[in-house]
Amino acid sequence: MEQQNLRDVKKGENKEEGIGEEEALASVDIWKYVFGFTEMAMVKCAIDLGIADVLHKNGGSMSLSELSSSLNCPPPTLYRLMRFLKHRKIFSQTQTSHGTIVYAQTPLSRRLSSHEEKNLAALILLESTPIMLAPWLGLSNRIKGKSASAFDAANGEDVWSYASNNLAHSKVINDAMACDARVVVPQIIKECPNLFDGVSSVVDVGGGNGTTSSILVKGFPWIQAINFDVPHVVSSNVDYNEQVQHVGGNMFESIPKADVAFMKWVLHDWGDEECIQILQQCKEAIPKDNGKVIIVEAIIDDGTKDEFEDTRLMLDMVMWAHTTNGKERTLKEWSYLLKEAGFCQYNVKHIQAVQSVIEAFP
Ligand SMILES: C[S@@+](CC[C@H](N)C(=O)[O-])C[C@H]1O[C@@H](n2cnc3c(N)ncnc32)[C@H](O)[C@@H]1O
Repeated sequence: MEQQNLRDVKKGENKEEGIGEEEALASVDIWKYVFGFTEMAMVKCAIDLGIADVLHKNGGSMSLSELSSSLNCPPPTLYRLMRFLKHRKIFSQTQTSHGTIVYAQTPLSRRLSSHEEKNLAALILLESTPIMLAPWLGLSNRIKGKSASAFDAANGEDVWSYASNNLAHSKVINDAMACDARVVVPQIIKECPNLFDGVSSVVDVGGGNGTTSSILVKGFPWIQAINFDVPHVVSSNVDYNEQVQHVGGNMFESIPKADVAFMKWVLHDWGDEECIQILQQCKEAIPKDNGKVIIVEAIIDDGTKDEFEDTRLMLDMVMWAHTTNGKERTLKEWSYLLKEAGFCQYNVKHIQAVQSVIEAFP
């Protein structure tokens, strides 16, 4: 009670001084923006050093001296990095009764380990490349209309041309997309078990290195999948799965025929006109009577107040930085695209993920 009164008095004092509670909070929060990049940079350091992988190989926990000799890093510098990461709940730190410092994995640090199926390390590595970071610095020019694309202004061509001319960067993109597929596709299988009922084939349009197709045919073993992407991407696939065929081509020209056209994180890369063209090509590829298109994308501003709402809004900014006309869309905007492309009906299923599942029928 006394403490409560003290807080009230302090608030009152602050008000008198013209410093409200919000002002006080702002004076702290502003530092998140001053040094916001630090979090991404230090997590990238942890991935580059392979800290989560080394801890995994050693049963999940190690002393500072064991970890520093495995990583070949001097203990004082490693301690300094781990102190920051521990503060962000990436790794935990305890001390034995003899004073030995011990680090262990946490749910967050496991998402940086290549041994964890649902790790997002490759996506962090993609977003922290100089190529993907440079466009952010010119985004205000794009917003003012002084450049047509922040990515082009920074890198000289659009992201997909850049990838086709720089195959090492293309691999970084494909690996990053594959790690998202390993997170979201199992979630779709879990929450939409009837999605492929009565379906015998699917074409994954812009399917990257085929990870999504491989997971889909394992989850729905009665289907055959075609992983369809530009030739240099499909030729770099690593997965051998006899239920998955890899086909190279251009989705704006023609898409291989299948009962279902599936697209994850493809349409958000493009403006409305291009999306309508892609959807029309999908419509050509599926049967008129019982075919469908499955779109796995974020839906923003639809009143769904879940824990991924902030991520979806960040993703919208990412599309601004990395694509020419791409964006995240509201349900009204998705509805417009589908109608324009000739899809009469659709339904939406929200799942425990950044993306939702939209099923559209011609
Ligand atoms: C953001 S990635 C998504 C990859 C994959 N669907 C996933 O989410 O894991 C977009 C994909 O579209 C592919 N793509 C871009 N232009 C294309 C085109 N004209 N025809 C076919 N695929 C294309 C890219 O190569 C890339 O693999």
